[in-house]
Amino acid sequence: MSQHYNDTPQNKDRFTITAALPYTNGPIHIGHLAGVYVPADIYARYLRLIGKDVAFICGSDEHGVAIPMKAKKEGVTPQEIIDKYNGIIKKSFEDFGISFDNYSRTSAEIHHKTASEFFKKMYEEGKFIEEVTEQLYDEEAQQFLADRFVVGTCPKCGHDGAYGDQCENCGSSLNATDLIEPKSTITGSVPVLRETKHWFLPLDQYDTFLREWIIKGHKKDWKPNVYGQVKSWIDEGLRPRAVTRDLDWGIPVPVEGAEGKVLYVWFDAPIGYISSTKEWAAREGKDWEPYWKDSRLIHFIGKDNIVFHCIIFPAMLQAHGEYILPENVPANEFLNLEGNKLSTSKNWAVWLHEYLEDFPEKQDVLRYTLTANAPETKDNDFTWKDFQSRNNNELVAIFGNFINRVIVLSQKYYDGIVPEPAAFSDIDTKTLQELKKYPEIISNSIEKYRFREASQELMNLARLGNKYLADEEPWKVIKQDEERVKTIMYVALQIATGLAVLSEPFLPFTSKKLKEMLAFNGLENDLKWNDITEKEIQLPAGHKLEKASLLFTKVEDDEIQKQLDKLEATKKENRAAEAKNTPKVAPQKEIINFDDFSKLDLRVGTILEAEKMPKADKLLVLKVDTGIDTRTIVSGIAKSFKPEAIIGKKVTVLVNLAPRKLRGVMSEGMILMTEDTEGKLTFVNPDTQDVNSGESIN
Ligand code: MF3
Ligand code: ZN
Repeated sequence: MSQHYNDTPQNKDRFTITAALPYTNGPIHIGHLAGVYVPADIYARYLRLIGKDVAFICGSDEHGVAIPMKAKKEGVTPQEIIDKYNGIIKKSFEDFGISFDNYSRTSAEIHHKTASEFFKKMYEEGKFIEEVTEQLYDEEAQQFLADRFVVGTCPKCGHDGAYGDQCENCGSSLNATDLIEPKSTITGSVPVLRETKHWFLPLDQYDTFLREWIIKGHKKDWKPNVYGQVKSWIDEGLRPRAVTRDLDWGIPVPVEGAEGKVLYVWFDAPIGYISSTKEWAAREGKDWEPYWKDSRLIHFIGKDNIVFHCIIFPAMLQAHGEYILPENVPANEFLNLEGNKLSTSKNWAVWLHEYLEDFPEKQDVLRYTLTANAPETKDNDFTWKDFQSRNNNELVAIFGNFINRVIVLSQKYYDGIVPEPAAFSDIDTKTLQELKKYPEIISNSIEKYRFREASQELMNLARLGNKYLADEEPWKVIKQDEERVKTIMYVALQIATGLAVLSEPFLPFTSKKLKEMLAFNGLENDLKWNDITEKEIQLPAGHKLEKASLLFTKVEDDEIQKQLDKLEATKKENRAAEAKNTPKVAPQKEIINFDDFSKLDLRVGTILEAEKMPKADKLLVLKVDTGIDTRTIVSGIAKSFKPEAIIGKKVTVLVNLAPRKLRGVMSEGMILMTEDTEGKLTFVNPDTQDVNSGESIN
């Protein structure tokens, strides 16, 4: 059966661009920036420059188990957590020039309303299955365990830290009851099964739709990593998924008989894209609906979000029935840091707010490094050495150097007034023709979501300028042919202008500075992307420039060393923490034969009396019934046990150890103990006290 779906808007010039809503349970780091927000921002800025109608939408994801968990850890309320991190995250985005048209929060009233209505519409149209099923329940915490409240082994890939809704290792979406050996993250206890009612989205019923839309449709132009994952999930067979939870943090399920239940965070969060669009439109006096009904919808996400954006949310949109489906979901792979997985819990990250403390004004350097080395087709590694070399060898030595020469020489020779060119040489004409190709070259890469390639093409334009100046050597020619230098500088200034316009999506702060130096505000019209190709000239003769200032400065070795030291310190802390958690065990002693072993006479003994040895804080003097006799044993356990607490205990005694005197008391045997790395002792007991003194142990 063929199903109608809407993924082809009439309006090809309207774009709704979403970037994954970050969880407000921590600050954001370079991985977030590289994977989602920088590419989305490049794309949005680019589209605006080519005159498209763009809504670039994001906001904080403030529901889900992650929030109360973090609140518990910090000893504050969930509300305090979301307020704190929403503030930090929002500021980081602003600081790095991520040009959202709107940044909302899923705790906003408009979102609660939008998500509730979305659910209600689906509910009333019978799009859910209502079912009482057995779910994992923590008896100690007295609550149901879903999502991040439970971890266990992933049934798909064997990763042993999979959550109840998802395995972050292989990206599979899971039901909590799928986990092998589940454990509560609240109490550490093993959950039991208990009945509870929930609403399920019957994904199996969307199989045909998803196959037609993704597989038969034109989704082969999706990135191979995205298409491949989605196809294999569909091929494996989709199952109904609960979209409600027994939880007290989230959006209440808006139907009767659902007290104490909230919407699953992955049900409400993507609807946040719609709420955020509404919030923006209301503020701007626009109509939000065209952005969800007749628009090209593009979701920028990290690879761990693929299933939600390519299967579950589209199924929800399809069920709801009024909205457009995504045209593309350009998910990135993961970024590593100096060879290791980024990890919030291990503090293995470069946090954006910390980066800015050490490199204020170097937002574009990080943007550039993360783009030039983006994890587009495979996981990639961020290294501080690469950061330094991208800065020093590309931004400073090529881009910055070219611009600096152009502006400084123009100031020096012409007082900053763009000179009138004479006739162009072949080189000049060729260079200007090359320049005019760049908007299209870079567009082609951006429109295929190849931002690394696009950033390298931008650098190639700077290289073109650098080479032109190096070949033409105006600083030498000025001594013999002043007229020729006017033409050279004129051509070089056109390239600088091209860079000012085309760098904007990638290096917005640099572009702004460069436009100021080139005094764009004195131009008749603002220059758009395609003007670089279409306009005969960009910067007319007679136009007055501003003074030169440095676009980029070198990053010195000691600055890099400081960052590496910081990471080294983190590693050390982690090692120390790990050593504390994983006790060392002593190496095995040399092999003995059975005869050696059988010489030991081990018996069950019963402690009859115990008292402290005077003036010896480690020793207890025990009277032990060995079944053979009652004898005195001096034992070094006084630090671990009070004498009165061990009377009557059945223990293991080595009875044929040669007697020896300890502090003047003859000891006739030894009580066996276990000892951990911290010296804590426990008795080696038979596992029941239902044994008799004198029974032998072998
Ligand atoms: N908060 C999720 C994460 O960080 C992303 C949510 S994206 C949305 O992985 F679509 F749900 F909004
Ligand atoms: Zn897995």
